[in-house]
Amino acid sequence: MKALILFSSRDGQTQQIAFSIAAEIEGKQRCDVLNILDAKNINWSAYDRVLIGASIRYGHFHPAVMEFVKYHLRELQQRVSGFFSVNLTARKPEKRTPETNAYTAKFLQQSPWQPDCCAVFAGALRYPRYRWFDRIMIQLIMRMTGGETDPGKEVEYTDWKQVARFAQDFAHLPGKSA
Ligand SMILES: Cc1cc2nc3c(=O)[nH]c(=O)nc-3n(C[C@H](O)[C@H](O)[C@H](O)COP(=O)(O)O)c2cc1C
Repeated sequence: MKALILFSSRDGQTQQIAFSIAAEIEGKQRCDVLNILDAKNINWSAYDRVLIGASIRYGHFHPAVMEFVKYHLRELQQRVSGFFSVNLTARKPEKRTPETNAYTAKFLQQSPWQPDCCAVFAGALRYPRYRWFDRIMIQLIMRMTGGETDPGKEVEYTDWKQVARFAQDFAHLPGKSA
């Protein structure tokens, strides 16, 4: 049996984290990594655990994430499952838990699916890659929250050791009988 890792990513950071988790648990757990937008016909019988990772943009996860959860609720509930969110608020350690990260807490509150494990990772800030409107908006948010405002900067806040620890926790969760 394999693990299915689904990601929702706009600029690639969540995708990178998803592949890093797959690489971390390789050996213990075979994995398929898939963009949630491309996950149309999943052969669920091949998977005994599933992980969903999603980033935040302007306060929201991509709507496809909750749509996926609702549509595949039974399959998710029958398997060992995990969720991780990626955002810039989590660059502050005190906002990096499912309880203290507002986006993640709200998602878990609204979701009919309750994952067996959950993590919040800090994302990346890549001003030079943003369209001008996004750059101005992010700069504004960063100014208001005491973050990086230099439009020439790219900063990766992701704590890769935290990602590796979460990957191990996910891979070691006890299995569920079908
Ligand atoms: C246009 C835009 C809007 C964003 N809005 C938020 C936000 O509302 N809250 C937040 O914490 N992070 C926000 N972020 C930061 C992203 O969540 C962060 O850059 C993350 O690494 C993106 O992951 P992705 O590349 O997988 O999409 C925003 C980033 C961009 C580019």
